[in-house]
Amino acid sequence: MTRSDLPESKTAAAAIFEAQRLAFAPLAFQVARVLRDTGVLAALCDRQAGMDLVELERQTGLSRYALRVLTEGGLATGLLRQKGNKLVLSKTGFFVENDPMTRANMDFVGDVCFQGSFHLDEAIRAGKPAGLKVFGDWPTIYEGLAELPPQAKKSWFAFDHFYSDTAFPEVLPLVFARKPKALFDIGGNTGRFSEAAVAFDPDVTVTILDLEGQLQVALANAARRGLADRIKGHAINLLDPQATIPKGADAIWMSQFLCCFAEDEVVAILRRAKAAMGPDARLFILDTYWDRQKHDVAKYCLQMSSLYFTVMANGNSRMYHSQDILDCVKTAGLSVTRQTDHLGVSHTLFECRRG
Ligand SMILES: C[S@@+](CC[C@H](N)C(=O)[O-])C[C@H]1O[C@@H](n2cnc3c(N)ncnc32)[C@H](O)[C@@H]1O
Repeated sequence: MTRSDLPESKTAAAAIFEAQRLAFAPLAFQVARVLRDTGVLAALCDRQAGMDLVELERQTGLSRYALRVLTEGGLATGLLRQKGNKLVLSKTGFFVENDPMTRANMDFVGDVCFQGSFHLDEAIRAGKPAGLKVFGDWPTIYEGLAELPPQAKKSWFAFDHFYSDTAFPEVLPLVFARKPKALFDIGGNTGRFSEAAVAFDPDVTVTILDLEGQLQVALANAARRGLADRIKGHAINLLDPQATIPKGADAIWMSQFLCCFAEDEVVAILRRAKAAMGPDARLFILDTYWDRQKHDVAKYCLQMSSLYFTVMANGNSRMYHSQDILDCVKTAGLSVTRQTDHLGVSHTLFECRRG
């Protein structure tokens, strides 16, 4: 194939520029992060007319050399614009500084994924999270969540909560429409949803099911808030095929949970959920699917987040296409009774019953 055979309208000049953006992407990322974390973007955000290097030196305490390389990197990446002898913040620079989603994504990529992503080729070949060794020796990141280095832990939870927190208020009325008295929160993590659930309905009791380390964190959080009598715990490793989900739930809740497992594991987990469910019980699956997004930016974020699962989390799961999970639900012997899209930032809720 020659260059002229390429089936696209893009000019060769535009395509080769995009290829260079990729070639330099790790450095572009670091320039953006450092411009943000050294306060250059914040300084420019406060001064619409812009600043020259002398003013930036005074404001940030950085050397002339540091400011030259950083701001020239900022011009190259489109975070800054030159206006006479002043540097001004571009719209992209404004979002890198102020947009909470960009901050959550950038901190997650920088603090959790960046170092380990060097091992992506090994992860792809082995089907193992080969980058996780930069933090510790666990089979998946979930066994190590409670012990991650402080900055990585902070950014992991901020990323997780940024997405799920926005969906919870919209989801609660759907989950409680049938007035469940006992709810199991599988993969309950820090207990955020469980706490929201007991606040939403004074009659419900929640049981969090999670790995031992994370469960203790969730239960301690609940106890600190005086909710120990309404939020209980059950330690479980659902990758252990012998582990069974206890019976007795009117509603089983799985939020941002199934994306942590390969499809065969998802089916095995859903089969055990089905075995635990009575005829009137409902299973709620809340997740983000790249095919159900209204905006290309959300689809992009999800497709790129898949690589976190590959190299850092478990080596075999991803941000799924919704049909992949619908197929797993069917194979497990469950049926979807309701689908609700566009909850929170980008979530879809599947409500399922047995059979
Ligand atoms: C991505 S977090 C989702 C947290 C929360 N449900 C939310 O929506 O924000 C996945 C959760 O599943 C738990 N988890 C991962 N692997 C597990 C396993 N094999 N057995 C039980 N829980 C597991 C993790 O500890 C973590 O709390």
